[in-house]
Amino acid sequence: MKIFLDTANVNEIKKACDMGMVDGVTTNPSLVAKEKKDFKKLIKEICNIVKAPVSAEVISLEESGMIKEAIELSKISEHVVVKIPFTLDGLKATRKLKEKNINVNMTLIFSLNQALLACKAGARYISPFVGRLDDIGYNGFDLAIDCQNLIDNYGYDCEVIAASIRNPNHVITAINNGIDISTLPYSILEQMMKHPLTDIGIEKFLSDWKKSQN
Ligand code: G3P
Repeated sequence: MKIFLDTANVNEIKKACDMGMVDGVTTNPSLVAKEKKDFKKLIKEICNIVKAPVSAEVISLEESGMIKEAIELSKISEHVVVKIPFTLDGLKATRKLKEKNINVNMTLIFSLNQALLACKAGARYISPFVGRLDDIGYNGFDLAIDCQNLIDNYGYDCEVIAASIRNPNHVITAINNGIDISTLPYSILEQMMKHPLTDIGIEKFLSDWKKSQN
């Protein structure tokens, strides 16, 4: 499974890249706003670090504005993937951007019907928001799994990004269900590495070793 980092924080991205674990990055306007930096410069900086797909989201809500922003964003780096929210205008923009060979990550996917329409419009990635569905009493992963089946059954040139991942169990569910990509906050990447029995095991091995050296 590919691991994308869901952040616009350069320090987190550098640390995760240093681990060798980052296959891409996703940002959204909320994550970018937290960084208080010039948007395009920040996306360029992230692309230069990651050298892999980096999602940058448009702000416009109508088709022509989305396309204009998408073209501008795609000029920043070959690694930019334009994130477009799921709306009718978003679908139309996605189709036109596909014709221009600009990769789109269609975001804010909350139903399988939306996912199908995004695939048909030519999205390169679709992002079902698992945690936000959990928040309102659904099982968010049911949708991510359905999206994966949709792509696998019909052979769309599209990958599922399980987004709005909130805990390490979400990642395990993604792995067990063959989800293409999970996009994770840095804190979850750190949590994935930890297990108390690993720490206890290391401590015991070292203390046994030291005893044998006396
Ligand atoms: O990639 C979308 C994701 O960042 C949303 O996460 O936790 O704000 O629902 P969250």
